[in-house]
Parts: sequence; C-alpha cells; structure tokens
Amino acid sequence: MWPQNNNPTWPANPSDNPTWPGSGSGDGGVWPGGNQGPPAWPSQPSQPGGSGPAPASSWPSQPGGSGPAPASSWPSQPGANQQSVAVPYTHSLNGVHNKLMIIINGVIKAKPNMFTVDMYAGEDVAFHFNPRFNERGQKVIVRNSCIRGKWGAEERELANFPFSPGQSFEMKILCTNGEFKVAVNGSHLLEFKHRLKNLNSIRSFGIFNDVTLTSVRTETLP
Ligand code: GAL
Repeated sequence: MWPQNNNPTWPANPSDNPTWPGSGSGDGGVWPGGNQGPPAWPSQPSQPGGSGPAPASSWPSQPGGSGPAPASSWPSQPGANQQSVAVPYTHSLNGVHNKLMIIINGVIKAKPNMFTVDMYAGEDVAFHFNPRFNERGQKVIVRNSCIRGKWGAEERELANFPFSPGQSFEMKILCTNGEFKVAVNGSHLLEFKHRLKNLNSIRSFGIFNDVTLTSVRTETLP
C-alpha cells in the first residue's frame, strides 16, 4: 500500500508559487467565471493557439527537472526543502465536493510519453486525465472514466495542449457540483462532467508517469 498523505497543507514554498502568468493581480486566482464560482478562475487564453498565452520563459524553472525521480525518498518530510515529491504519487481524500481544488506543481520530463492524474473511487477511476505527447505524432489529452473495470467514452477535444517537455507547470483541478474543471498555468483548459456521481466515494488521486512533482496540495475555495 502506498503511504497516504493526509496532510492537506503540504508546505507550499512561497517562491514556488508566483502569481500565475496572465491571471492578473489576483493572489492565487482561482476559478473562471462560472456560474457561482469566485470570479478569479483563469479565463480562456484570449489568443487561441499560436501567440502563446503561456509565457514559458517567465515561468520559474524548477530545479532537478532532468534528474531521476528519487522514488526511495517518499515520503519526504514536510518542512524540508520541497523540491521533489516522488512519482508515482498518491494522495488520500475524504471524498470530493464542490469547491475542492487540487493544485499540482511539477515539471514535465525531458522526453515525455505521457503523464496521468487519476481520481479514484475504490477500483473505479472517476476522472482519468492523461496528456499524451506523441500518439501517432499528435499531442492529445485523453479524459475518461473507468467504472467496473470498463473504460468509458474518451473525451479528446482540446483547444490547446499546455504542457511542454522539460517545462514546469501548475495544474489546478477544481471539483464543482457538475464537473471537474482543469486549468494549467493560469488558463482554463477543460471540463469533465461527473460520470461517477457519488462524489463522496472519490477517496484518493494518483499522479503517474513522465512528470516530476514539486508540490501537491488541496484546498477548499470559500
Ligand atoms: C487506454 C489506456 C488507458 C487509458 C484509457 C483512456 O487505451 O490503456 O491507460 O488511458 O485508454 O481511455
């Protein structure tokens, strides 16, 4: 059994959490202008595609990006200089609920094939988020669920693919009553409507494959 991290207040190193690019002056801006959410969720990139909402160069580079994940060091001690959280990573939850947000800071490996974030309800995967860097030459983010051992219909549409080899990222997953919302580097990316509707049964999430992690934490929005 993978050790559980029950400490929701994983120490965020303030220097690892600059204001998001493009999110205005808000501190920790949270969710995009949905119906009842707080106003500060990042908006869609105003210029789709090319001219780059992601100022990758201004994003702080993270140390150790190219090194192997120190799998043996899990769990690292809260309070230690938090430069790497081992992958695969598992985090327990007391169910998910409206306004629960998961904040993942990491660095994509130099030659990535894919990475995965899975939200689990027992054996079921309520939400599978799977960026693939080279699926027959294409980049795609596959979203799905796996219920009673069967993968459902994949969701693949996407305006942009915000992850790049060797680059750091911040990803937020916000649970609402109707869906999971995902934002990356301050821009709303996609939504995944709840298929597994008993949100309280979602008791953990995992992060796998070609990513190193600098911090993972959860918070509940006001
Ligand atoms: C399968 C893959 C699974 C999962 C699933 C999503 O092809 O083996 O790991 O990504 O697609 O639909």
